[in-house]
Amino acid sequence: MDAELFERARAVRDNAHAPYSRFPVGAAIRTEDGRVFVGANVENAAFPEGWCAETSAIGAMIAAGTDAASRRIAAVTVVADRVDGGIVCTPCGGCRQRLREFSTASTVIECRDPAGAGSAFGIADLLPSGFTIESQF
Ligand code: THU
Repeated sequence: MDAELFERARAVRDNAHAPYSRFPVGAAIRTEDGRVFVGANVENAAFPEGWCAETSAIGAMIAAGTDAASRRIAAVTVVADRVDGGIVCTPCGGCRQRLREFSTASTVIECRDPAGAGSAFGIADLLPSGFTIESQF
């Protein structure tokens, strides 16, 4: 458990704009150079126009600087309620692809409920054989 990322993701989840699904999600990214960026899901009355917490956090990371190490994800924690009270929430397909863009073979993706229970994954677990312009790791 990455305690700092968990606390940051849990806290930013309170700021989600999720009046339609009532499923707030928080995400916290730590870059390879040690900075932390957070994001929450942002829904819209035109439902397909909303986006996920992971995407918000990636946007904050990219806006902060262009150094290579400042846009490689060392770890990311996603916090949400369990789906249907059972399965821990993992990133959607689109966010798996977006996370892959900035991940390496050592990127850790933690998916936790608000009590802190959950699982850790590598990007290849979540997106095997993913499309990338880089060589596959
Ligand atoms: N959502 C996220 O923000 N991240 C995930 O990992 C899964 C789903 C959001 C999208 C939508 O606002 C709400 O959760 C319900 O799907």
